Amino acid sequence: MEINKQLKSHGSWIGKWTFVLAASGSAVGLGNIWGFPYKAGTNGGSAFVLIYLACILMIGLPIMISEIVIGRRAGNSPVNAMRRIAIDSNTTSLWRFVGWSGILAGVLILSFYSVIAGICLNYIFISATSLGLMSSPDQFAKVISSPFNLLFWHTIFMIFTALIVSAGIKDGIGRMVKILMPMLGLLMIFMVMYAMINGDFDKAIKFLFAPDFSNVTSDTLLQAMGQAFFSLGLGMGSIMAYGAYMAKDQDIVSNSVSVASLDTMVAILAGIAIFPIIFAFNLEPNSGPGLVFVSMLSAFNQMQFGQFIGPLFFVLLSIAALSSSISLLEPGVAYLSEEGILSRRKSAGMISLIAWILGIGSALSFNAWSDFKFISDRNFLDSIEFITNQLLLPLGGMFIAIFVGWFMKKSLIKDEIGEINPILFGLWLFFIKYIAPTGVALVIFFQFFPI
Ligand code: PFF
Repeated sequence: MEINKQLKSHGSWIGKWTFVLAASGSAVGLGNIWGFPYKAGTNGGSAFVLIYLACILMIGLPIMISEIVIGRRAGNSPVNAMRRIAIDSNTTSLWRFVGWSGILAGVLILSFYSVIAGICLNYIFISATSLGLMSSPDQFAKVISSPFNLLFWHTIFMIFTALIVSAGIKDGIGRMVKILMPMLGLLMIFMVMYAMINGDFDKAIKFLFAPDFSNVTSDTLLQAMGQAFFSLGLGMGSIMAYGAYMAKDQDIVSNSVSVASLDTMVAILAGIAIFPIIFAFNLEPNSGPGLVFVSMLSAFNQMQFGQFIGPLFFVLLSIAALSSSISLLEPGVAYLSEEGILSRRKSAGMISLIAWILGIGSALSFNAWSDFKFISDRNFLDSIEFITNQLLLPLGGMFIAIFVGWFMKKSLIKDEIGEINPILFGLWLFFIKYIAPTGVALVIFFQFFPI
């Protein structure tokens, strides 16, 4: 039968920790280190952080569990997984469109993600060679003003992504994350300590954690929720695809809790590493996407051995980005190759080419197209980011929650989740049935009809 096509050719994770590492690799990325601090910075700090944490706990974690349940149960790529579980639950196979929207979101995100990750690659060399020659804000302005420069690094990053995905999931991703994730953790801790000692730590902690809800608007809510989805990598089938390669004896709930906690910790630590430096050097916390590049370069400019630690930091940031970009490409590639439409290699090549072409618009948003507005006052990059982070991912997540909460057979869910405290199970079901869908729906509603 057609829907019985399995992902056997894709293989599965080897080793107890590989799923957690790969899923954390997908979750921890530019969203944590580049996105979270600057979004917290432009949205008033602590209010954003608190709403973000609430979204992770009440919406993100329950949806992450649901995605893995679907993925592992089916053992297929997200489009076929949704279709298969829908049929097994005696409901319409139209649910497969959630998988399709995920593939679309993945391509759109990858298009701008690769441009930003390209800037990280570029900074490996900048921080190694031109320290002290130029102030860090000027340096960033110079980097983004050249379309050729951005496109060059965007191309390099996209080629890396396509090569790893085409090589398959087992050897490439599995092996890479085992070494690189712990290294990233150590370097984060080092950066936090440096910021604690040399930066304005008190001011940064107040900025990030002292509750001040006076500036919260419906847009803050939507941004915080969008960021939660983006950071956990939910709503587009990445984690569903990774779940399909997960061994049956692994516990879905505890794995999800580990991934969500790790992801949140890295985002908060990135904030604690960056803001003390921003305040100490009187830079603006709300300076937007350049925040991490400007603040970190200025720190490396001044620290001893900055010329070694700087490149190391940007290498790791690039690797964190790479382990996420792979997961953006995987759902589409898994689908095309599983259906036998194209080989894995050709699928990876074709989808990444589409994302690369779209990425040109994002690269130009920093320079030639900076004055063109697409969706309201957003430039091309911001518009794509808006469509994906604030619409496609939350809506994808909402449909996944509705599907699992209301349509998927409870016996199938219980089978996957396994032995679990009945109160915890009831709580999760309550969140997935009521809280997650209404939460997402309300936030999106208020975005269009602000209070
Ligand atoms: N979670 C990644 C980050 O925070 O950078 C980005 C990402 C990966 C988004 C996978 C969505 C996704 F499905």
